[in-house]
Amino acid sequence: MLFSSWATLVLSAILTTFANVATANVEKTIFTAPVAVTIPNVRPSLQDLRLTSLTPAKHTLRANLPVKFPTAEHSRGEQSWFLLSGLEQGQRYEVRICWPATQPTEFWLDVYTITSVFDTPDLISALAEYSESLPESKAVVAEDAAAGDSDSGPASVLFLHIQAAADFFTLNKTLMNDPPDVKAEIILDPYILNIFPRSLIPTGIYIVASAVGSWFVASLIIRWITSIEPPTKPHKE
Ligand SMILES: *[C@@H]1O[C@H](CO)[C@@H](O)[C@H](O)[C@H]1NC(C)=O
Repeated sequence: MLFSSWATLVLSAILTTFANVATANVEKTIFTAPVAVTIPNVRPSLQDLRLTSLTPAKHTLRANLPVKFPTAEHSRGEQSWFLLSGLEQGQRYEVRICWPATQPTEFWLDVYTITSVFDTPDLISALAEYSESLPESKAVVAEDAAAGDSDSGPASVLFLHIQAAADFFTLNKTLMNDPPDVKAEIILDPYILNIFPRSLIPTGIYIVASAVGSWFVASLIIRWITSIEPPTKPHKE
């Protein structure tokens, strides 16, 4: 019956939607890892930038990201830079940023190749400004790591540029002048077969299972409703 299959479809869509209401804020960017290049080991090197790295092995980072209210000069608030390294060239990845709903923020995520940053005056000056703002103590750690890093073969590397604008209003002047850092989680996630983010596979199975489940519940409801309907034609004796 046409009516009941339509009704089943609509009802199962509604049930699935209710089963999947998201609770955390997420922003993401999807990209393909660039061709691996040999990074010249001359100063100033990438290590001198003192950026925190995300790699496929160290793929989750909890960070307190600085935010600002947008201004005419900085319409996207405050910026941060990270390095995505150890990528597999040609592999598709996504970078997600998750933050609590209690800290309303607007995020922009962009990835850039090394050459595109170094060839774009706005980007290179933004990166330099961020790098100079990092505490000195980090430099020592980074240099130790660089000294121990004898692997100077070709590497697929990207810069991750995060911009964060505070998106709330309060009468508290302290908070309006100096919005607190956002407790965010940054995740580098490879795609399985370049189709589906690896860490979301359990969620995918759950969505499919709940869609199938909703379909069964919906068809039971429809069958029950149609069984109540009186017969349309009386029987002839
Ligand atoms: C404003 O917020 C700050 C930080 O949460 C807090 O310490 C301060 O007491 C607040 N001021 C007022 C007037 O509520």
